Amino acid sequence: MAANAPVIAGGGDVVTAVNGAVGVVRINRPKALNALSYGVMQSIVEAFETYDRDPEIRAILLTGDERAFAAGADIKELENATVVEMASSQQMERWDRIRKVSKPIVAAVSGFALGGGCELAMCCDLIIASETAVFGQPEINIGVMPGAGGTQRLTRAVGKAVAMDMVLTGRKLNAQEALAHGLVSRVVPIEMYYDEAMAVAKAIGEKAPIAARMAKEGVARALDMSLETGLAYERRLFYMLFGTEDQKEGMAAFREKRKPEYKGK
Ligand code: CAA
Repeated sequence: MAANAPVIAGGGDVVTAVNGAVGVVRINRPKALNALSYGVMQSIVEAFETYDRDPEIRAILLTGDERAFAAGADIKELENATVVEMASSQQMERWDRIRKVSKPIVAAVSGFALGGGCELAMCCDLIIASETAVFGQPEINIGVMPGAGGTQRLTRAVGKAVAMDMVLTGRKLNAQEALAHGLVSRVVPIEMYYDEAMAVAKAIGEKAPIAARMAKEGVARALDMSLETGLAYERRLFYMLFGTEDQKEGMAAFREKRKPEYKGK
């Protein structure tokens, strides 16, 4: 993908652009508060996979707009769905593909991150939130429950007590509460949230790419494994990095007191 050349995908409901080594994906359905229609989700996943294959891209940034990151799955699309359609459409399976993206994904969240929007933010590796961000799983208010990881990822992030409160009552967390409960990495004023998230993505993009991917994998897998298995898994990833040129470069640069030049090899 040519550097800095914006590419429109998903009929304009999802916009992608490249900024240096960062692949940006912006949800662009402001009239529906960025509700995640099937088309929007398809475009997001395809954009992620395209960036994951692109050797020029080293980190991904997902965002919406100031009013909404995403207000959930598109309720108007779901309203008349049958159980057979839901089970056979494989719409939700698409979310599993996000888990397979190996490059770090930063979410820049302002405004509503509700239902599928909260779940999408939680699929990312770090969440940078504006002070106006609101996180919630309000599906219970419309007769359903979270279906894209909300009961699982939210519980792992904030613990059972707060997750039960959010999932059963529809309680929303403001940005500071989300920070206090470990759901987000940083909270900044609204005028800074995108730049801060971009700075984080760029900082990740300057690290040794293979190390960044392995580090992501290690932390992500920590939640699925016993400590013993996880430590053994981490050790294997760590050892593997000693087979990379970037490990030699990083340590030589430290010794020579210069900036490392990583090649992703
Ligand atoms: N799906 C479809 N359209 C949505 C939407 C959604 N999730 N959220 C908002 N919109 C639409 C509204 O219908 C409205 O469209 P119209 O102007 O055509 O009527 C427009 O966006 C603006 O929304 P509001 O007028 O409601 O704005 P508000 O400021 O008064 O309220 C809100 C904002 C509190 C976020 C409210 O819109 C809301 O409660 N939205 C739904 C949130 C929700 O329940 N999300 C969970 C969806 S289910 C899900 O995500 C399942 C899953 O686990 C994958």
